[in-house]
Amino acid sequence: MAKKFSVPRGTTDILPTEILAWQDIEEKARKLSKIYGFREIRTPIYEESALFKRSLGQTSDVVNKQLLELAGDQKEGFALRPEGTASIVRSYIENGLDRKESISKLFYMGSMFRGERPQKGRLREFHQIGAEVIGPSAKSPYLDAEIIALAVNMLKSFGANDFVLKINSLGSAEDKTNFSKWLREQLKPFVSELSENDQGRYERNVFRVLDSKDEKAQKVIASLDIGYDHLCSESKAYFDQVKSALDQLKVEYVEDPKLVRGLDYYTDTVFEISCSSLGSQDALGAGGRYNNLVDQLGGPKVDAIGFALGIERILLAIGDREDTKEGSLLCYVIAMEEECFPRAFELLNTLREKQIPCDICYKTSSMKNQMKAANKSLARFAMILGKDEMQKGIVTLKDMKEGNQQEIEIDKIDNIIKVLRN
Ligand code: HAM
Repeated sequence: MAKKFSVPRGTTDILPTEILAWQDIEEKARKLSKIYGFREIRTPIYEESALFKRSLGQTSDVVNKQLLELAGDQKEGFALRPEGTASIVRSYIENGLDRKESISKLFYMGSMFRGERPQKGRLREFHQIGAEVIGPSAKSPYLDAEIIALAVNMLKSFGANDFVLKINSLGSAEDKTNFSKWLREQLKPFVSELSENDQGRYERNVFRVLDSKDEKAQKVIASLDIGYDHLCSESKAYFDQVKSALDQLKVEYVEDPKLVRGLDYYTDTVFEISCSSLGSQDALGAGGRYNNLVDQLGGPKVDAIGFALGIERILLAIGDREDTKEGSLLCYVIAMEEECFPRAFELLNTLREKQIPCDICYKTSSMKNQMKAANKSLARFAMILGKDEMQKGIVTLKDMKEGNQQEIEIDKIDNIIKVLRN
């Protein structure tokens, strides 16, 4: 027997019955990002592995455990992109965008890939909607607040309301180093109580211990008095301004000094938006500043901030929505007998030329079967053409929602369209 193929583990097909919900999110995201002054950018789905290693950090789980590298005999290795920020920074530098504009507001959507153990809300191929602002003029607390507000307003426009926004500031690179030293000191007496994995995290990058889901680590972390002492006065003042701008925009947030995020490139403001009903994979989106990344990747010394939302998790959070279940067809054409088909086919294509989304049943089976097909197509109207109609020079238009029907002269195409569009 021939082998049956299935989708790779951790990936899914998005079927036509689900696509309206996806398109709804994509359209709303595009619209809102335009309102905030963003322009779309598209980058390849794979890049040099080193780009991700240098941007996200060798000790991040995304690089350390989840990078899907492509097999090949090239000298430089390539990997499927696990996120969008690194690729966009690469493109910003390569295309010299800093010489063309003082601020680049870039919006993107697409598949990302991480070799994770699949579970609800955690896939190996998933989709992000993201926004990045990069440039010499990209440092303003108002911009931080605007980026956070855009993420929150996008989620609201998709119909997600049950979420919590957590914010924190990691401060400058120097503040981060001080914080890391302080954290190592604080955790030192408890290291032997941590799991082997977290002991490794303690050694390699102590911030990762704060991300740990392990109970022992959680308990130790809860006992620490983590505040904002590691921030210099400038970083503190900046964070205060971000918070006032958020208040001005009426964006609700919770301050969480333990929020460090799992990727190395962050500095200053970081944030995460989570939805508790999703269980362990509860982050709908996240982001933050990365003021040193462009420079670190060989580009100009410019500031940057961005975020990404996960579409699959958003869909889980908003659940089934009736308004995304409607069909996209307006009219389903039914030829009752074989000899009526050519005229029905002509009508079908005239309607299409007039921009009416319509389709036809190619098999002239019984009326019952064809009406079943019309129902399944979710078209609002069925247009019936049989011998009787042909003789009378009419079509019967049945409103599938209201249940009523009317006869219209077959040659009066404008009258037919009027009813269809009413
Ligand atoms: P991230 O937190 O790694 O950040 O991912 C952002 C969002 O992508 C998550 O909150 C989640 O909704 C979704 N996501 C991540 N991994 C998976 C997965 N395996 N399955 C399903 N959904 C997933 C970033 O990617 C940063 N690039 C965000 C950013 C942009 N920071 C600055 N600019």
